[in-house]
Amino acid sequence: MMLRGRQFQIPVQIPPVKDHLIVLGIESTSHTFGVGIIELNNHSVRVLANVSSQYKPVKGGIHPSEASQHHVNVAHSVVKKALDDAGVDVKSVNAVAVAVGPGLGPCLRVGATLARFISAYWNKPLVAVNHAVAHIEIGKLVSGMVDPLVVYISGGNTLVAIQRDKKYRVLGETLDIPLGNLLDTFAREVGLAPPYVVSGKHAVDVCAEWSSEFTPLPFTVKGSDLSFSGLLTAALRMARESKGDRALLGKICNSLRETVFNMLIEVTERSLMLTGKKEILLVGGVASNTTLREKFKVLAEFYGCRYYGTPPEIAGDNGLMIAYTGLLSYLYGRTTRPEDLTVKQRFRLDEETYPWLP
Ligand code: FE2
Repeated sequence: MMLRGRQFQIPVQIPPVKDHLIVLGIESTSHTFGVGIIELNNHSVRVLANVSSQYKPVKGGIHPSEASQHHVNVAHSVVKKALDDAGVDVKSVNAVAVAVGPGLGPCLRVGATLARFISAYWNKPLVAVNHAVAHIEIGKLVSGMVDPLVVYISGGNTLVAIQRDKKYRVLGETLDIPLGNLLDTFAREVGLAPPYVVSGKHAVDVCAEWSSEFTPLPFTVKGSDLSFSGLLTAALRMARESKGDRALLGKICNSLRETVFNMLIEVTERSLMLTGKKEILLVGGVASNTTLREKFKVLAEFYGCRYYGTPPEIAGDNGLMIAYTGLLSYLYGRTTRPEDLTVKQRFRLDEETYPWLP
């Protein structure tokens, strides 16, 4: 899905606005430095730009200081490309939004510093955005969903949530490591590097295709919460014993993938039964996984629900979702002074109220 130039109807309540507004959003919470620019006209928004640069560690997981250095290095060119793509001058931007958490401290501070500077130097209103809320809002915008059961899965988050009383309510979440982190860690530990998603496939998906056999692994669902650490330990132990046997490693990957995705389907199904929601919205980096999307499709068909998985261009971290969520906040007057803007590494989804929610 090519988003630049596309127009979307805003699916949430916003105050009436006469003028058209342009908002620039900055994302830097983890491995991605991104800038998005969005334009509001009445009750619809047009995507003007969405430019990203991703830090890819040579070895191991994300080093926060290395990732932040990457962001510092690319910030100038990403901002410039976004403004060029949008065909706007920074002076014509009406507000600057930035993701202030949750995320990695050194990475968050790069985006926050840049946003404070743009806001202070050009005298632009500044808007703080929750990164998790932004993942959900951009999913709602593109899908047109109003009141979905949200499944948010990424390298740093795994949760199921709904909207109630102007807040996001978390029904279930991981009790230890996030789902994306489990897959990345497993892939790295067994030498299936690099574990990045290519065309909706993780390294674990590629490995899973080497076998169609299945072996039971720990399936830990507690109410609507999930636990992945025991599963990771068990899969790693088996992988070490496989001693490079390709078919055996394929069997472990296949079993790991089936177990982990079925755990997620299980908690989604429980939440669906509990809430009676008729829409399922899959967001976050892992939402672009083709195997998982297929499972969600089957689940949604079974319960007669509408299902939408955010496309890869916006499933992962991006500046566009920050610009859009920043726009919603700005419309409700939620701005902050540059000197008051602080980053929140553990900024929870259910911490604050959002006036546009039902
Ligand atoms: Fe994210």
